[in-house]
Amino acid sequence: MKRVLLFVLPILAIIVAGLTILGIVQVRSVRERLMDDLMRKARTVAESTAFSARDILESNNLPEASRLVDSFQRRERTQGCILYDREINVIAVTERIAGWKEPNRSYLKLVLETKTARGDLEQFGEYPVYRYIQPVFGENDNPLGLVEIVYDTSYLYSTLAELWRRISYTLIGLVCLIVLVSFVIERQTYILPLRHLTSWFGRFQKGEADKLTPFSAKGEFGKLVSEVEQVALSLRVARRAVSDEAHARLQMEDIWTETKLRDLVNARLRENSLFVVSNREPYIHTIDEGSGGVKCVRPASGVVTAIDPIMRACGGTWIAHGSGNVDRRFVNSKRKLGVPPGDDRYILKRVWLTKEEEDGYYYGFSNEGLWPLCHITHTRPIFRENDWRMYEKVNRIFAESVLEELPVRNPFVFIQDYHFTLLPRMIKERRPDATVALFWHIPWPNPEVFAICPYRHEILDGMLACDLIGFHVQFHCNNFLDTVNRLLEARVDMERFSIVRGEKETFIHAFPISIDGHFGENAPAPDIRQVERIRTEHHLEGKIVAVGVDRVDYTKGIIERILAIDRFLEKYPDYRKRFVFIQIGAPSRTHIKRYHDFAAEVDELIQRKNWKYSDETWQPIIYLNRNLPPEEIRSYYEVGDLCIVSSLHDGMNLVAKEYVASKRGADAMLILSQFTGASRELTDAVLINPYSIEEFADAIKYAIEMPTAEKRRRMKNMHTIVEENNVYRWAANTITELTAMKKGAISSE
Ligand code: G6P
Repeated sequence: MKRVLLFVLPILAIIVAGLTILGIVQVRSVRERLMDDLMRKARTVAESTAFSARDILESNNLPEASRLVDSFQRRERTQGCILYDREINVIAVTERIAGWKEPNRSYLKLVLETKTARGDLEQFGEYPVYRYIQPVFGENDNPLGLVEIVYDTSYLYSTLAELWRRISYTLIGLVCLIVLVSFVIERQTYILPLRHLTSWFGRFQKGEADKLTPFSAKGEFGKLVSEVEQVALSLRVARRAVSDEAHARLQMEDIWTETKLRDLVNARLRENSLFVVSNREPYIHTIDEGSGGVKCVRPASGVVTAIDPIMRACGGTWIAHGSGNVDRRFVNSKRKLGVPPGDDRYILKRVWLTKEEEDGYYYGFSNEGLWPLCHITHTRPIFRENDWRMYEKVNRIFAESVLEELPVRNPFVFIQDYHFTLLPRMIKERRPDATVALFWHIPWPNPEVFAICPYRHEILDGMLACDLIGFHVQFHCNNFLDTVNRLLEARVDMERFSIVRGEKETFIHAFPISIDGHFGENAPAPDIRQVERIRTEHHLEGKIVAVGVDRVDYTKGIIERILAIDRFLEKYPDYRKRFVFIQIGAPSRTHIKRYHDFAAEVDELIQRKNWKYSDETWQPIIYLNRNLPPEEIRSYYEVGDLCIVSSLHDGMNLVAKEYVASKRGADAMLILSQFTGASRELTDAVLINPYSIEEFADAIKYAIEMPTAEKRRRMKNMHTIVEENNVYRWAANTITELTAMKKGAISSE
């Protein structure tokens, strides 16, 4: 409507101005015509009255004079008549106007002297009148007096007012008609075709429409339609070509690389790109506290570390909570942006949540309820009814956001983690044809532990709408199968590793997640300048350096690590002044009391231990309590002779794999908690029980003193394992399994 008005307003202004001028001209000409008429009538009446008045004035016959003027009393438009003698005295006046205030009489004299009749418009009180004064002549043209005829002109004004009214009504009618007609024309010729084109192109993008546009258009709009059709056609052809090439290449290569995974996705999913859902978004836009400018941050998250390379390789859409304080500035009208910023390899769709929703769903139910429930760290889970309601609500919000993106055929939705246990069912209820997988990035507890959750049935029911549920290790799969066996009415098939409930079968498989690693020729060279800066800044020259990289989370065993280092320095004093431990601790979930208290505890403990050992040249522990970009973390790995991963319980732990990958079989060693998923694969690491401080302290000494050849051998073995089982293989396994389930559907395309 706004656009119609914008378009129509100038035209309307011109029409209104034109019609107004025409109206003025017409009113003027009507007025002149009426005045002419009036004057003519007045003259005729005045002349005939003057004729009758002549005898009256000559004979000074006053009764006759009264009769003459009284004859005007009954006329409709003439208000009256006044008879004057030659001294301009009133001899007789019609009663109707007798009381009117006399106007200026000077021109009466002039009429008499010049012997010329005269007419004028005047106002008598509230009456607009026309006065016509006619001299009365006797013998020899001697003036005998005057006759004045007074006409009522109000009819003239009401006629003109009526005319104006009609012109205005016509004008208003015309304006309405023009607006209406313009609106109808704009709707028919512009809005509707554009709406059709937009909806067709939207459906085409989702794979719902693959024919030509369902309408024909001519002119400029027709050209646009034809251009859009060309783009759509090229896109379809390109997709097909990519898919065929991918099929061909897949047969040839046997190492899992970014390209090979892309080929697999293109070959298996065709134009149905991948939809990933997670709580944490891979790129966060925030205000830099130092410079006040905007920065794009990569969060410390295992999910992001693993999934981002896959999405970079395959494209697709990642739907996640937009948690950055300036995230809204960087999205388009559909809350999407291309990422990585400037590279646009895939689409990130941000979901907005209110503070209340984030509080209940993320901080509350996910991280004060499910997180401690699934990690054996002796932190009591807290379940609040309100948090659960918010968790349900946010799962529903994400469901809507996912559903509006899904193409009509064979969509693949890959959900990440414990934030979305209800999402699979919500998606499947509306799109039973969608293939839905959930990957659980944290441990799954045993049935006794899980059973304390008041919402256990709802959670399991939501998850079991999936076609596939993945865990890092078989042990967690077994725990999940046991849990379902104990808590639900379902058939657990231990041979196929699946759960059958009614018609639905859900496969439960282990897929140990990994990193991209950039191995071989693709391995990025360390940033020598940064490495040197780190060495100088922290006085590391000639020191044995150990590093730890974690979110500041009570599951990571940071306290135990510090206690073990303390014990190590206590027990083996020779290492004092020779050993430095650098802890990079990214702040995490700080609004939760347990995390807040834990961060303070870590701070305090590190300060206490540094106080215990430091002198003016050496401090055993350097604590960098901030989120560092991946490139800088790589430089710290480069500096580290040891890496310590001492989680009390961890689904996988990708820091361990990143360290191994970055060291490329060098003289280094990994100390790894036996309670991490990674310890199942990286068996050449020095494995520890982080609760046993004594053993842990000895393990540090053991790792440092291990012969170089032994270190190289072990690091090389682990490097090969991580290289072969990289994240592309992980994704390929998951996608292959998913697509195998839908094989019939895909090949029938
Ligand atoms: C774990 C979870 C991830 C999460 C990450 C960081 O690795 O499995 O889902 O993203 O921790 O935690 P945050 O709450 O900051 O996303």
